[in-house]
Amino acid sequence: NMQRNERWFKVSILYCVMLSQLWAFPFSPSLDLDVTPRTTIFHKDFWSCNNGFTGSSQNYSTLLLEEETGRLYVGGRGALYALNTSNISTSANLTIDWNASPEQKKQCLNKGRNNQTECHNHIRFLQRFNETHLYVCGTNAFRPLCVYIDAERFNFSSGFEEGRDRCPYDPAKGFTGLLIGHSDGEMFTASQYEFRSSPDIRRNFPFPTLRTEEAPTRWLLEADFVGSVLLKESINSSIGDDDKIYFFFTERSQEQVAYPSQTKVSRVARVCKNDWGGQRTLQRKWTTFLKARMVCSVPEYELHLNVLRDVFVLQGRDVQSSIFYGVFGLEWKNIKASAICQYAFSDVRRVFEGPYMEVQDSKWREYTGKVPEPRPGSCITDVHRSQGINSSRDLPDSVLTFARRHPLMAKQVHPVDLRPLMFKRSVNYVKIAVHKEPALDENLYTVLFLGTDEGWLHKAVEVDGETHIIEELQIFAKPQPIESMVTSAVQRSIYIGSHSGVIQVPMSACQRYTSCYDCVFARDPFCGWDGRVCVEISSRPQRSNLTQDISRGTRGCKENPGNGPVIHRRRAVMSGDDVLLQCELRSNLATPRWTLNGKELQGYGLSTGYRVGTDGLLIIGARTQQGGSYRCFAVENGVSVLVYLYTVKVHTDPYFPVEPTDSTEPTTISSPVVFSTASPTEQPLPSPPAPLPPGANFQTYRHMEAIYISLVAVLGGLCLVLTVVLLYVSFCTRRESRSRKFSHQNLHVLGSSDRKRSSHLELKTISSHCNGRQGRRSISVPTFGDFNDSFLQIIPGDDQMSPAKTPPPAPPLPNPPPLPNMDYANGLSATLPSVLRKMNGNSYVLLRQADPEGMSPLYHSFTEELNRILEQRKHTQLDMHPDESSI
Ligand SMILES: *[C@@H]1O[C@H](CO)[C@@H](O)[C@H](O)[C@H]1NC(C)=O
Ligand SMILES: *[C@@H]1O[C@H](CO)[C@@H](O)[C@H](O)[C@H]1NC(C)=O
Ligand SMILES: *[C@@H]1O[C@H](CO)[C@@H](O)[C@H](O)[C@H]1NC(C)=O
Ligand SMILES: *[C@@H]1O[C@H](CO)[C@@H](O)[C@H](O)[C@H]1NC(C)=O
Ligand SMILES: *[C@@H]1O[C@H](CO)[C@@H](O)[C@H](O)[C@H]1NC(C)=O
Ligand SMILES: *[C@@H]1O[C@H](CO)[C@@H](O)[C@H](O)[C@H]1NC(C)=O
Ligand SMILES: *[C@@H]1O[C@H](CO)[C@@H](O)[C@H](O)[C@H]1NC(C)=O
Ligand SMILES: *[C@@H]1O[C@H](CO)[C@@H](O)[C@H](O)[C@H]1NC(C)=O
Ligand SMILES: *[C@@H]1O[C@H](CO)[C@@H](O)[C@H](O)[C@H]1NC(C)=O
Repeated sequence: NMQRNERWFKVSILYCVMLSQLWAFPFSPSLDLDVTPRTTIFHKDFWSCNNGFTGSSQNYSTLLLEEETGRLYVGGRGALYALNTSNISTSANLTIDWNASPEQKKQCLNKGRNNQTECHNHIRFLQRFNETHLYVCGTNAFRPLCVYIDAERFNFSSGFEEGRDRCPYDPAKGFTGLLIGHSDGEMFTASQYEFRSSPDIRRNFPFPTLRTEEAPTRWLLEADFVGSVLLKESINSSIGDDDKIYFFFTERSQEQVAYPSQTKVSRVARVCKNDWGGQRTLQRKWTTFLKARMVCSVPEYELHLNVLRDVFVLQGRDVQSSIFYGVFGLEWKNIKASAICQYAFSDVRRVFEGPYMEVQDSKWREYTGKVPEPRPGSCITDVHRSQGINSSRDLPDSVLTFARRHPLMAKQVHPVDLRPLMFKRSVNYVKIAVHKEPALDENLYTVLFLGTDEGWLHKAVEVDGETHIIEELQIFAKPQPIESMVTSAVQRSIYIGSHSGVIQVPMSACQRYTSCYDCVFARDPFCGWDGRVCVEISSRPQRSNLTQDISRGTRGCKENPGNGPVIHRRRAVMSGDDVLLQCELRSNLATPRWTLNGKELQGYGLSTGYRVGTDGLLIIGARTQQGGSYRCFAVENGVSVLVYLYTVKVHTDPYFPVEPTDSTEPTTISSPVVFSTASPTEQPLPSPPAPLPPGANFQTYRHMEAIYISLVAVLGGLCLVLTVVLLYVSFCTRRESRSRKFSHQNLHVLGSSDRKRSSHLELKTISSHCNGRQGRRSISVPTFGDFNDSFLQIIPGDDQMSPAKTPPPAPPLPNPPPLPNMDYANGLSATLPSVLRKMNGNSYVLLRQADPEGMSPLYHSFTEELNRILEQRKHTQLDMHPDESSI
């Protein structure tokens, strides 16, 4: 009950948010920024063409790619591997087993640590030390150790060194480190090293080691580090500048933030490489530490993505042209959303040269007083040297005292164009890698590789400040976060590490595009159509006969889109039967269009006898005049491409001779269909692809307050009333649904081997919660285990579609908006529809259900319905003794 009420509460909150958006509409046009990946490729469909590596360990969290030596070094749990970059599957047998000793594990257990995850040696640091050696640190079951490795022979070359200052104890703590300047090596790391210690940015060697300050001003507050980079700003510097190291992290905000609901802020901090600490003040502390806030917000939504998850630095020819990409998310675990923001280091530098913040009356405010000379936090430059200041130790106390109290800059670092490059709902990106690829038009395109927390890789291209996701690939069959990712321009591969292994994925697989339109619509900078096949353009020295259109994705294909390669199938059905004409569109951006005997099919809906979904057309109760030639077109970028041709014959004689189905026709339907509901009265046109219904916006309350401060009270009251109503309705309908008896259910199994006989199946059912479908009715779902090759299709009964009998359940909205496609609490995930679409059954089950109550207007498609149901299934035990009310 608690759960239910919680869910209802969430729904009502949603309505309030949506309501407020309706109010907001005339003033803030909410642009739909969410980007849909053009194609979805599942693990089983591409797995065979990739190389993978799985050693005896797990948690392949640290990767070091060395293009020159052709090696990919991998740090896992209790082991290190050296793999061949050209094919990581070919085992060169270079493995170092490095486990924590049994005594150490025991001690770790005694400290109350988790023996499954923490009491192991997780490799956290793995970098080149000099020409011959690598330097490696591992957590060693909560007692970190470091060691040199002979890279050539790939074995330990020294005894172990104490690692407690260099490596976090906790395998899951944010950590970043750099080893720079071979042989005269310097090591910089940042983490919360020990359990319960404060986070710290350190220079570990050479002597003197440096740290951040904790008093009187804490420079870092619960910082969670995601990355660091050395920028060699000394090269060609006109002022004799120093090299700088930048650190990227999220921390608890100290300063007043404008968004009270958020407690964290993203930061960039920097130190100078040749900082030696102060003489008296800031002894063995950084004298050059400065940090600034990084902003990544979606202006349309007034949404501030405040948690930095990963960064990728794209070094330009000099620092001025270097940029970095940040992956941002929200601090609330139950809402999935990601934004990619792009920043210029020149902007970062400008912020570090701007005003400071200061604590006044225990609040952070911009400091407007006098700033001592030389400027605190700046590196030692020629100006300093001319004043006799040759190192940070020569800095006057006044400067160091000021630096100590003023680590934070007043100005914020804003992204290029003041907006994200990309925003994505329902997805948590956790890793990013960026690659520049020259396309056929000789422009250099930015290709983003984005790893999700569920083991997917999104490949996107930036075109004129907009991002187009070319494809999404399911890298790991088992959902798991992508832990590490590196790209190799030489091998044209991406190496992806996760809990279960390392995968080598080619940057492009153009052969996946099977027609000119497919190849061109994809807008993949790697791929071009050569007249017969889609090929990697880099593989062709002679490119004049290649076709590609990155900027628009429409131009260049010569053949008539109506005459492309078409799959022709025949269907013979009994009059009165339902028949499914499958038309699966490869592209999630395409919409289906159907014609019958050359005439546009219009008015899909029960009354017309047609229902259209993203994957096919259902003819309901086929009539003789519905026979003929059906064409399915994929409409993408304004071009209609013919993909399927069906010849349908409707027989009235029950004993018509069995026609041999034509050879191209599988006797089974190879993949399931998801229909969107099309009520006869209001939806004459085919609905757009199901995965991402538009209009799912979200804004913070704060925003609403700011704009309609006067409306707050009204809205609040409304929300309260709504909540009460919803709770009441939920309570009532739940009771109702328990007592409801359902009439006989008709099941037609189509597409099974004997297509003419409809069989009655006994369904294994689960009892459903009323909250899953707003308590309007309960639906049963066969377990997919039982119907491994089947798919459940739920068609609401005729009478429920009649508008007169559709009392909207609760919220008195004229046109209730679709549920936002975000992952609230337990899913309702936008990725599920595409998963469903391809569940690859070879038949589908049609469940007819007469429901006197009508369908909830909350649902715009069966996809969402199924989502809901599947979502419930995750949390519902199978009811071993189903009664009628559970069907
Ligand atoms: C990697 O494998 C390729 C062939 O598969 C081989 O030519 C190359 O020498 C190997 N590289 C290393 C570093 O082992
Ligand atoms: C990589 O090596 C594995 C094992 O030797 C082999 O099965 C696979 O075909 C190779 N992949 C490529 C792309 O050569
Ligand atoms: C790897 O080592 C194992 C045992 O150490 C051996 O059996 C196997 O043949 C080796 N494989 C290769 C490719 O060298
Ligand atoms: C971890 O602890 C659990 C219970 O405390 C025990 O059953 C399991 O065998 C232990 N695993 C290892 C690897 O020690
Ligand atoms: C690299 O460092 C290791 C470890 O300190 C040392 O033994 C080795 O001689 C160094 N190699 C070179 C070429 O300097
Ligand atoms: C590393 O390997 C070489 C040759 O295989 C061997 O001579 C050397 O003793 C090994 N070193 C260690 C520390 O095991
Ligand atoms: C530094 O300046 C020289 C000469 O102007 C130029 O050749 C070189 O590329 C510059 N280096 C960098 C990193 O800008
Ligand atoms: C290591 O992998 C296991 C699953 O294999 C996972 O549960 C655990 O969280 C991972 N540990 C870290 C530190 O990533
Ligand atoms: C395009 O050019 C390549 C050689 O560069 C050739 O192999 C291919 O057949 C050509 N395609 C057409 C359609 O002419």
